[in-house]
Amino acid sequence: MTEQYDGIHRQSLADPEGFWADAAQAIDWDQPATKVLDDSDAPFYRWFAGGKLNTCFNALDRHVIAGRGEQDALIWDSPITGQKARYSYAEMQARVATLAGALAELGVTAGDRVIIYMPMIPEAAMAMLACARIGAIHSVVFGGFAAPELAKRIDDATPKLILSASCGVEPSGVVDYKQLLDHALELAEHSVEHCLILQRDMHPCALTNGRDLDWEEAVAAAPPADCVSVDATHPLYILYTSGTTGRPKGVVRDHGGHAVALTWSMQNIYGIRPGEVMFTASDVGWVVGHSYIVYGPLLAGATTIMLEGKPIGTPDAGTFWRIAEEYEARALFTAPTALRAIKKEDPNGEFIARHDLTKMRAFFLAGERSDPDSVRWAEEHLRIPILDHWWQTETGWAIAGYPFGLERLPVKIGSAGKPMPGYDVMALDEQGEVMPAGELGNIVIRLPMPPGTFATLWGNRERHFDGYLARYPGYYLTGDSGIVDEDGYVHIMSRIDDVINVAGHRLSTGGMEEVLSNHPDIVEAAVFGVRDATKGQVPLGLVVPGSHFNGDESALVAELIQRVRDEIGPVAAFRQCVVVKRLPKTRSGKTLRGTMRSIANGDEWTMPATIDDPAILDEIAADLARLGR
Ligand code: COA
Ligand code: AMP
Repeated sequence: MTEQYDGIHRQSLADPEGFWADAAQAIDWDQPATKVLDDSDAPFYRWFAGGKLNTCFNALDRHVIAGRGEQDALIWDSPITGQKARYSYAEMQARVATLAGALAELGVTAGDRVIIYMPMIPEAAMAMLACARIGAIHSVVFGGFAAPELAKRIDDATPKLILSASCGVEPSGVVDYKQLLDHALELAEHSVEHCLILQRDMHPCALTNGRDLDWEEAVAAAPPADCVSVDATHPLYILYTSGTTGRPKGVVRDHGGHAVALTWSMQNIYGIRPGEVMFTASDVGWVVGHSYIVYGPLLAGATTIMLEGKPIGTPDAGTFWRIAEEYEARALFTAPTALRAIKKEDPNGEFIARHDLTKMRAFFLAGERSDPDSVRWAEEHLRIPILDHWWQTETGWAIAGYPFGLERLPVKIGSAGKPMPGYDVMALDEQGEVMPAGELGNIVIRLPMPPGTFATLWGNRERHFDGYLARYPGYYLTGDSGIVDEDGYVHIMSRIDDVINVAGHRLSTGGMEEVLSNHPDIVEAAVFGVRDATKGQVPLGLVVPGSHFNGDESALVAELIQRVRDEIGPVAAFRQCVVVKRLPKTRSGKTLRGTMRSIANGDEWTMPATIDDPAILDEIAADLARLGR
């Protein structure tokens, strides 16, 4: 039964060039690759060297040429504003071409960076595609980040232009994107020539003279721009993700490998054929949104649904099911957090029962570990396969999963499935020996990784090498620990670094520690992730004030919480913080975050042999108890 998957996976590792050259035939090339796998700069590999194409052409124009002009390309459903819209492939192509024309009129050319800081509205997807159309490199910044985080990305990507909107709409109210953007531009050292601002009716904004331009006016005046043929290895986008420090990493993805891998994944992983509808409930600011709200479905000639709203509260826990029914979605993809939130509001699946979901074939989860309870709940009420899969911003598509469109592999709850083509996944011990099946190790991928995975980190090849390739020569270090079991299934358990996953959002505890330590009253801080019933993990901070501090502790904590919100963003969900006298350390001075995490989670823990002063842990346990942990 597993012949097909096994055979394909084996073939992809034995003959990667042959496998991906075949897959590349699903893409329209202006010029085919001269070298499918370019290993001349190993351990940095490039796919489809010498090839030329344009991703926007492949995502829009070719489908119009092939007769899909009238088919919906993108359906926008915004329960939070009470609006809906549909864009056919022909309309999408026309809108993207004129937006690309407006960018070109503003002097944006191939290779220039463009930052997109926008809410979940169709223009965000159009902006991405317009950049791709003229070979500009987009960098979408998630709206839940605060101005200083946006400023860091502006300084790293040095964009010529920023595309934004007057506001976003969250359950807590209107988010003034323009104000955040203005503040970020004040903080950033790099100055941009122009910002193109889309005015939304619910909260229009004032434009800064000389710098800001009105989106609608610019587009109305622009001639449509044609697709620019770029090298397959030309960067399509930079997407910043959290590392272990407060400095984000700019993951660079190219045009060619990305188009090939995503197109392969649409049919073989998600089982979506051209003309069918995929509903990915995420945000374009994350990699899941890049790959499966925008590029994947459109490259495959499918219809994508973009939701401006939440799994619950906009207006209720039935929103996903209402949308899936209304637009006949064949697959739904979201984060386990969303499923947990829905399950909490609708434990008996009553909202699910109100909808005809017979068109939906499978439900996909990724972004964090899926808890078995929620998966079983979804299985019971949806009665379709609930399929976990594991990937990262760096890889751009699934490392391991259930290739639903290819073959129905038996589902193992708690596992993220089996390695996808081109991924040779294993667990290694500290010395680099492969762990026996079923034993925990550092999860690595043998190089080269398949097409679609990141080319490098923007402007920082050294960090790429040091962070991912140096630890085990010949392998990519995923940063996750886990198990490969006796049947070849991959189980991802936790991160091996200081990255945490809050509601499926990847965040750096190091970044939060920096914010806390920068407060004049704080001499030291430790932040780690603790279990949370809805968000999976949330950050918890311990802070040590300086000896001069004699103020009110709760006022200090409130100020610190506000600081993290202002500097990193509301998405960090930093709400738990406690003042302590000192932090537990090893004799060599390393803070024992893991032990504190175990105490906070109520897990069993053992006294680390290397601890400097065991009495501190009792103090910490008492301090955490004050937080109710
Ligand atoms: N723009 C501006 N602010 C945003 C934002 C955006 N795009 N996205 C989130 N925020 C803000 C929220 O308004 C909230 O602010 P608040 O503290 O003022 O309420 C904060 O960031 C945290 O947001 P969120 O993570 O959405 O938590 P929540 O408590 O509002 O909602 C869930 C809980 C479970 C409904 C929500 O976390 C969710 O939908 N999770 C799914 C996550 C997901 O799809 N991840 C994609 C990765 S694949
Ligand atoms: P991001 O780059 O934001 O997509 O986050 C990637 C990280 O999220 C991974 O390195 C894992 O730690 C975690 N992750 C993503 N998907 C899964 C999954 N299916 N199971 C467990 N962890 C996951």
